[in-house]
Amino acid sequence: MMDLAQRVAEAADLVTVALDELLPRADGPESRLTEAMRYAALGQGKRLRTFFALETGRMFDLDETSVLRSACALECIHAYSLVHDDLPCMDDDDMRRGQPTVHVAYDEMTAVLAGDALQAAAFEILAHPDTHPDGNIRSELISRLAVAAGARGMVGGQMIDMLGVREDLGGVARMQRLKTGALIACAFELPLVLARAMDAERSALMAFAHDLGLAYQIVDDLLDAEGDAGTMGKAAGKDAGAGKTTFVTLLGVDAAKERLGLLKTQTKSHLDPFGARAEFLRASVDFVLERRQ
Ligand code: IPE
Ligand code: IPE
Ligand code: MG
Ligand code: MG
Ligand code: MG
Repeated sequence: MMDLAQRVAEAADLVTVALDELLPRADGPESRLTEAMRYAALGQGKRLRTFFALETGRMFDLDETSVLRSACALECIHAYSLVHDDLPCMDDDDMRRGQPTVHVAYDEMTAVLAGDALQAAAFEILAHPDTHPDGNIRSELISRLAVAAGARGMVGGQMIDMLGVREDLGGVARMQRLKTGALIACAFELPLVLARAMDAERSALMAFAHDLGLAYQIVDDLLDAEGDAGTMGKAAGKDAGAGKTTFVTLLGVDAAKERLGLLKTQTKSHLDPFGARAEFLRASVDFVLERRQ
């Protein structure tokens, strides 16, 4: 049987090939836009959201095309969020996924437009009948992704982050749930929609996704504090200087790590009802939380 690292790598290859086919190409002057979209979306992302979606799809024996197209849509939203997050008016970063950010490689207006068009591409992919023959299912996928991406999800969280309000722990947890948690949860929600899963399975997996998303962002914040920019392919040491409130800036590195340790056991325990079917998702918790990039 394939080990976890192989399954993660396989998921990354699958989604990159699929995105390459799905993303538009253009001949006219708008080719600058489509090239920038491709530059952002086809770079060296870890593709963990795709891995989560594909593993969930396997647990429910879902059609791989439906799950992979859903993962492509999610990766388009994620890539757009990173392009805009890196802009000078936001985190002002020069490196992403080991290469210059879109606004550095192209320019700011192209980065804004490429992000906009990636967002639209996500919904175009979900709306296509190849994603699922049943229009009701497609509409449900679209609405889940829209909620996760918008004001009640990622963008809402980005707003709170950017305002730099001095939050307490509860406030930081809420911000992270919106900013990062919502799109990670979507990696489980979309396959759950495709599976027409039962309420008990849905709530167990959503509880898992919730804790995993929180842990994911704590790791991201710890890596910002102590990670290596070369390994990560993006800048380190920026949050504190930028006045960001994170678990790490609030609690300090040691207490944040302690919290992460507790969260790890709690996260895995949500998978108990799935038994051996969740073997790879369970193992992925350690993998994801011990990541260095
Ligand atoms: C980075 O996400 C931003 C966060 C939401 C923490 P990832 O760490 O998943 O970035 P890529 O996709 O691998 O570049
Ligand atoms: C961004 O969080 C999360 C998004 C919604 C894009 P960060 O600003 O911490 O992500 P990095 O560290 O730049 O990847
Ligand atoms: Mg940011
Ligand atoms: Mg950032
Ligand atoms: Mg960060």
